[in-house]
Amino acid sequence: MTREEILELLRSVRHPGQGDRTLEELGMIHSIEGSTVTLAFSKRRDPLAEYLIGATRAALIRGGVKDPEVKTVVLDEAAPKKKAPEFSLETLTGVRHIVGVASGKGGVGKSTVAVNLACALARLGYKVGLADADVYGPSVPLMTGTEGATPMAEEVDGRELILPLEKWGVKWMSIGYFASRGQALIWRGPMASNALKQMILQVKWDDLDFLLVDMPPGTGDIHISLLQEVPMEGAILVTTPQDVALADVEKGANMFRNKQIARPIFGLVENMAWFTPEEHPEEKYYIFGRDGGARMAEELGIELLGRIPLVQSIRESGDAGTPVALGSRPDSQAFLALAGKLAEKLG
Ligand SMILES: Nc1ncnc2c1ncn2[C@@H]1O[C@H](COP(=O)(O)OP(=O)(O)O)[C@@H](O)[C@H]1O
Ligand SMILES: [Mg+2]
Repeated sequence: MTREEILELLRSVRHPGQGDRTLEELGMIHSIEGSTVTLAFSKRRDPLAEYLIGATRAALIRGGVKDPEVKTVVLDEAAPKKKAPEFSLETLTGVRHIVGVASGKGGVGKSTVAVNLACALARLGYKVGLADADVYGPSVPLMTGTEGATPMAEEVDGRELILPLEKWGVKWMSIGYFASRGQALIWRGPMASNALKQMILQVKWDDLDFLLVDMPPGTGDIHISLLQEVPMEGAILVTTPQDVALADVEKGANMFRNKQIARPIFGLVENMAWFTPEEHPEEKYYIFGRDGGARMAEELGIELLGRIPLVQSIRESGDAGTPVALGSRPDSQAFLALAGKLAEKLG
């Protein structure tokens, strides 16, 4: 791919804290060498650095660049180095269980499961929050019909905290609310390190029984740093039943089992476990093979916590912003059952 083609791909990346201008307009493209793009930052801690790196990588991947690498340089090294403000874990003191929702790869329905599980837990009477930490594809705004909403900020004990949106008894926070235009307000000022952790640690969650974290797909540095700095109790893994998915799920599992992280995996959720036609809700077609999830769970030594059918209405309701778990269809029962099991497991 030529430099010009890569530049064209990068024009889709905009800096929400700088009037939505492109990286090129801001002079932030330091160099392009093969599939490696180096971004230049003028200050040591741009609060949006992580977001921009992720968005750049995502734009390259979307444009068909294989294994892109995004590096950074800081231009005014000579400037006095202020200590980066530390995130505090105070916003999480009222939260009983922080549970990551992870997957080895994208597109398996991680966000669908996270959003519906949050709604189902709320229906069971729990206080629930969901932090959408998927910088590559924040889908919580769309799936909850909260696109375009602007979270407010509030000063609490001298710290500026973001107020989550509330709908259906769930508190929602997504990086998607800030990736669009006109949201510079809460990024201004002495803001703390990176956008991802901000979505979890700089939010006024108050008291919650469960805080679910929709993690980015895959297993990279961003996950490790997230797991190191956010006190997640453990995670659930979402997968589809195909044999080919096993390797990805195993990677996902190893991320939590690695020595530095060492967090329990509460269970595996087999999504699209079978296909059920809309007009014949009693029928099940095992189009990806039967019991793939159960075999996978056994092989990895993880409990199979739930099985979710592939049903057209799950996708449609996701696109329409009204999660099926709020309704009374058979597929909403699958999410309620999953919620019940998770709640039971965590006490
Ligand atoms: N059980 C399901 N039945 C029907 N469609 C589904 C199901 N799970 C996910 N989808 C659809 O598949 C697509 C990818 O799901 P998503 O939750 O965004 O995946 P991920 O977060 O893992 O990338 C979405 O369009 C979603 O509506
Ligand atoms: Mg997603």
